[in-house]
Amino acid sequence: MHPYEVYDLREDDPFVLPGSECLKNLLGVSDTKTLNTLERQITGPMLLSLQQTPVEPTFDLAHLCKIHHRLFYRIYPFAGKVRNVEIAKGGRLFLPHGLIEKVSKETFEELKSENYLVGLQEDKFVERIGYYFGAINTIHPFREGNGRTQRVLIDQLAQKCGYAIRWSAMSGHAVAEASAALLAGDKTGKALAKLVSINLYRI
Ligand SMILES: Nc1ncnc2c1ncn2[C@@H]1O[C@H](COP(=O)(O)OP(=O)(O)OP(=O)(O)O)[C@@H](O)[C@H]1O
Ligand SMILES: [Mg+2]
Repeated sequence: MHPYEVYDLREDDPFVLPGSECLKNLLGVSDTKTLNTLERQITGPMLLSLQQTPVEPTFDLAHLCKIHHRLFYRIYPFAGKVRNVEIAKGGRLFLPHGLIEKVSKETFEELKSENYLVGLQEDKFVERIGYYFGAINTIHPFREGNGRTQRVLIDQLAQKCGYAIRWSAMSGHAVAEASAALLAGDKTGKALAKLVSINLYRI
């Protein structure tokens, strides 16, 4: 497992099985490696089902929660629920959980005020999608499963604008590096925009 795949450990994390590093889960699994394998096996078909029968794209926190629930309801008791603990990667905290509702509201209102990026020229579209991808990533509403959840929402946004993003062509490491730049202070999401720009297709 790469370091970018796991959150920094906290001793008092109520989401983790006591005396272990493994997240509490509905699969009866107590080691992270097995959990991750099963998690990928279960969420793979769920990701396809989200393409075939998408959740209603309301572009708000409830939208993210619905996607998260569809992906993880068989795996985690917290599926679809906003986290109530702090989480960090690479020594940097994501948004404090008490601000998730407020900042999500502001972010998605801003997106609405830009008419969901519909009709933008490609270079401007990429710039703004990098910004929103970054803003949503910094919120990180869930204890686990944020990457997959936010990609589904970004896909629905791109589709509304006539684009598709080929995530499978990006390495997890590259996405993690570009995402890390945000927690380090890059509010523009420039690195994420660059990654999107080279993996963007018109539909
Ligand atoms: N150091 C970091 N700083 C900020 N964001 C990061 C960092 N490393 C990874 N990320 C972001 O966090 C996401 C992973 O979050 P999480 O593990 O909750 O979700 P996931 O669905 O399991 O991830 P994955 O994207 O690997 O499928 C990545 O997709 C990336 O966007
Ligand atoms: Mg993960």
